[in-house]
Amino acid sequence: MTQLALRGPIYSLTADPFLNAPSDSVVYLSDGVILIRDGLILEIGAYAQLRDTLPSDIDLRHYPDAILMPGFVDAHIHYPQVEIIGSYGAQLLEWLNKYTFPAEARFVDKERARRIADFFVAELLRNGTTSASVFCTSAPGSVDAVFQAAQRRNMLLLAGKMMMDSHAPANLVDTAQSSYDDSKALIEGWHKRGRCFYTVTPRFALTSSPAQLELAGALMREYSDVRLQSHISENRAEVARAAELYPARKHYTDIYEHYGLLDARAIYGHGIHLSEDELRRFYETGANIAHCPTSNFFIGSGLFDIKKVRDAARPVTVGLGTDVGGGTSFSMLQTMSEAYKMAQLRGISLTATQCYYLATLGSAEALGLADRVGSLRAGCEADIVVVDPRATPLLKMRADVAESLDELLFALMICADDRSIAATYVAGELVHEREAAV
Ligand code: GUN
Ligand code: ZN
Repeated sequence: MTQLALRGPIYSLTADPFLNAPSDSVVYLSDGVILIRDGLILEIGAYAQLRDTLPSDIDLRHYPDAILMPGFVDAHIHYPQVEIIGSYGAQLLEWLNKYTFPAEARFVDKERARRIADFFVAELLRNGTTSASVFCTSAPGSVDAVFQAAQRRNMLLLAGKMMMDSHAPANLVDTAQSSYDDSKALIEGWHKRGRCFYTVTPRFALTSSPAQLELAGALMREYSDVRLQSHISENRAEVARAAELYPARKHYTDIYEHYGLLDARAIYGHGIHLSEDELRRFYETGANIAHCPTSNFFIGSGLFDIKKVRDAARPVTVGLGTDVGGGTSFSMLQTMSEAYKMAQLRGISLTATQCYYLATLGSAEALGLADRVGSLRAGCEADIVVVDPRATPLLKMRADVAESLDELLFALMICADDRSIAATYVAGELVHEREAAV
């Protein structure tokens, strides 16, 4: 079988730059090559060193003007919300009722679910996102649709059926028992089938009864390697409502912990308003946070304090999510840009290295996938994005005066978007190639 090799500048994170020196966190090869076989990275190194070892019939693709990076990993996104992206004027609870629930209710239509799932997966790949943790709707068919779309491209995807049995429209709610039964059937049908991974998905404490959270915990006990995703502490009215609904619990985090939903397999979207005590519980249990800055700005939820959350004394693991359709872009480059700006408003300037970490290895770590994706290392799965730092006249002008790699990468993440994604490879197969500029 002909092997594939990608040659060009290579940039990849190998460790957490919030906790390690940049020089210990990054690999950069100005002229590198990635040798791929059976969907895995067989070898990676300087082209000059590996050139003579490459098989004579190798399919060698050269991207001298691009940067090869690990595919981006979106730690939190809702596929049924693509059509309501950019909906006007509401904060979280009103936004859910006015736009989100009606949109999600339409996914009982399996044909619609298939069509939107296909669009969604293509859009991820067009943006260089090769893996994502995806919220579906309460309809089990919505999960089948997105896993089928991912499977057709051999894409590593996590997804789960929304569990929601309370305080939501009648056409969307399940029951504690039906949500357990449906989730269990989906786990049996999809978990670890190819590159599909099931994620138990209670929407959030406001739309789950105690009985439902109890059964979500039961699923996590029964299946030791499924993940869990939910939302926490995104909006102040939401935090107050959670306290009203669960008055016996010490705080919002304690609600989830009480039902066995806080451990290293769990990732919670937002976490903007978590107290020190709650952050400590996240750290001690190994639970993770998906930081979703475009959504937090757009819905007006607040400013995530990444410096506090990642404090080296008790660093909570954080990945980066778009949270489309509360979030406003599929582009992880745009999402990095907004993470930078949000940190600026909290008085710290994230480095480019830290931002690229959040969008790749950080998200992979937060989703328990770091042994597979998020980094370009021998043995990892060959999910690779070819980033063009000169994709537009403005980007070219900016790149041409950059005096260092960090300067180039920083300006790129601030100004770039899907136009800079020249190509996307999933498990060593080309799945997206940008149309040539006219
Ligand atoms: N909290 C509960 N559900 C949602 C959702 O769909 N989007 C966002 N941003 N927050 C939520
Ligand atoms: Zn969300």
